[in-house]
Amino acid sequence: MNNRLDGRVALVTGGGRGIGAAVALRLAREGADVALTFQRDQRRADDVVEQVKALGRRALAIPADSADAAAVVAAVDRTVGELGRLDILVNNAGAFLLGPLEQLGLAEFEQTMAVNVRAPFVAAQAAVRHMSAGGRIINIGSNMAERAVFPGFSLYATSKTAMIGLTKALGRELGGRAITVNLVNPGATDTELNPADGPNAETINGFTALGHFAAPADIAAVVAFLASPDGRYVTGATVNVDGGFTI
Ligand SMILES: NC(=O)c1ccc[n+]([C@@H]2O[C@H](COP(=O)([O-])OP(=O)(O)OC[C@H]3O[C@@H](n4cnc5c(N)ncnc54)[C@H](OP(=O)(O)O)[C@@H]3O)[C@@H](O)[C@H]2O)c1
Repeated sequence: MNNRLDGRVALVTGGGRGIGAAVALRLAREGADVALTFQRDQRRADDVVEQVKALGRRALAIPADSADAAAVVAAVDRTVGELGRLDILVNNAGAFLLGPLEQLGLAEFEQTMAVNVRAPFVAAQAAVRHMSAGGRIINIGSNMAERAVFPGFSLYATSKTAMIGLTKALGRELGGRAITVNLVNPGATDTELNPADGPNAETINGFTALGHFAAPADIAAVVAFLASPDGRYVTGATVNVDGGFTI
């Protein structure tokens, strides 16, 4: 592994397991110090912190529910306070509330928008106060924003589609400061949210050109590229990392 991120500090929301944990570890392997947020499971978050420290990097686990805008801003500020700077923000924490239209209430709507749209917005707003040229904002969306294969995804797809607009608009706005903003849209990725041996796995694999789920590390590899100096001329982009699900 090269040291593309030496001296950088990253904040990954929802970094206690799944894609967020893989991103935190990959960024650390490439040289970054990493703060991560979690919602409930302190033990899992602490475990990722220990793994990052074992790589010789500094790490910090911050309890911060992304549904709470003030907690998200506080997580950004704590990252800068304890790790000294902020170069890379990865908005990964996501709400995944599915169901038929008639059964999705306002509470589900508010929760989904708060976590998947408002939190990335306020985190970006707080982060750019601290970022200098070379800063990176990477949003984690979903390929469900591009292809509505299954019923029940109205809220989730709406929220993940909003991230496309946020990414483009911020890419435009922050380009003059040499801060890039990109969206990574995973396809089915083997995590506790969507296990590769789950009930819909066979159908999903049938739609996927490569025929199988991603590993969290597959998503993390693309995030690391965008976070690194190698990704410096990519901004406002949506990168599908979905094994060809959307082609
Ligand atoms: N897995 C897939 O197939 C897939 C496909 C497309 C897109 N995605 C997107 O990828 C992202 C990560 O998904 P995943 O599969 O890795 O999920 P996961 O395995 O369920 O892990 C979620 C992580 O995020 C944290 N988290 C959840 N809600 C949070 C909140 N409100 N505030 C702060 N942290 C929160 C969890 O914290 P605790 O441990 O404390 O609960 C956990 O560490 C999401 O945005 C999801 O929409 C996933």
